[in-house]
Amino acid sequence: MAPEQILASDGGGYDRQAELKSFDDSKAGVKGLADAGLTKIPRFFVHHQLDLELDRASESLGSSPSVPVVDLEGVGRSWSPGERKRTVDLVREACETWGFFQVVNHGMPAALMEEMVQGVQRFHEQDLEAKREWYSRDYGGRKVLYNSNFDLYQAPAANWRDTLTCALAPRSPDPQELPAVCRDVIIEYKDRILELADTIYKLMSEALGLDPNYLKTIHCGEGLFFVGHYYPACPEPDLTLGTGDHTDSSFITILLQDQIGGLQVRHQNQWIDISPIPGALVINLGDLMQLISNDKFISISHRVLAQKIGPRISVACFMRQHLPPENSSRLYGPIKELLSEENPPIYQETTVRDFVTHYYAKGLNGVSALEHVKL
Ligand code: OGA
Ligand code: NI
Repeated sequence: MAPEQILASDGGGYDRQAELKSFDDSKAGVKGLADAGLTKIPRFFVHHQLDLELDRASESLGSSPSVPVVDLEGVGRSWSPGERKRTVDLVREACETWGFFQVVNHGMPAALMEEMVQGVQRFHEQDLEAKREWYSRDYGGRKVLYNSNFDLYQAPAANWRDTLTCALAPRSPDPQELPAVCRDVIIEYKDRILELADTIYKLMSEALGLDPNYLKTIHCGEGLFFVGHYYPACPEPDLTLGTGDHTDSSFITILLQDQIGGLQVRHQNQWIDISPIPGALVINLGDLMQLISNDKFISISHRVLAQKIGPRISVACFMRQHLPPENSSRLYGPIKELLSEENPPIYQETTVRDFVTHYYAKGLNGVSALEHVKL
């Protein structure tokens, strides 16, 4: 029996389902709780297996390695073949050993990044009555929505964050469908992210030994699912997480974080901080990339700590199709060019739709969605 089921029926008068429902019905999210000045977090946010003390102790033992930083200055324009090769090698190394890297000089204007963070903050900090209109879990029916914990009812414990969500490509919503407080910036940011994804896919295609346009040709850059997270300050940060341990469902994710910090990646059995670098964007590979690269590139667990300080804002762009019909019939499996007798396929073919449906149904429970498609 899972711990949460034991709790739900422990006879102590704790009705977990009812607590979740009343939190959900408030439509005020975690921010609503934080604003109410709670000193203890509700029980359904408590992560029972969490041992942050132990993690912190092991981290202080030695100097930790850090996620590679890739400088994209001059990419595709002024690079000599030597520079290009060095960068492709760096990207390959990062994709094979970390599943994460940061990019600098990527062409996204600093002012646009700042405005994007502020736009997400404005959304979450707007008047509650107006914000409630956006609260929903109907991902199929609504193009733009906000909620707290997409997997509130599935995951073993809830996370200390609220999220604004919209599918922006290949079909973007009409501008009027986006919240007015961040409409313009979302549209501008989306165009720049699609360009950057194109650049990154070229480098990654080459790193896989394929034609630079390969990943584009198989439509890895065509879908963009946008989330704007808001992590309020938390009164008991050692008992919960901002985002629990998970891998992403995307091909790649392009993440913008503010300067607060708290994002960590699992590397060589340790949690390593991904420290904010002003102007940088974090790139990480998702499960669909691990699948098509047949485990050459890895989709690695990461999480966000809850903290006494806040709010922390981050914007994740998951590069994958989201809504039907775009994702309904195209099949993705290990890339044929990468397979051989010594490297047989590890995964079956799947549609993004089936894969993402499974990912959502499972929630962030610590089990990789890739298990579901293993041969
Ligand atoms: C995610 C994620 C990290 C962050 O949304 O999948 O890992 O810093 N976000 O918010
Ligand atoms: Ni993630």
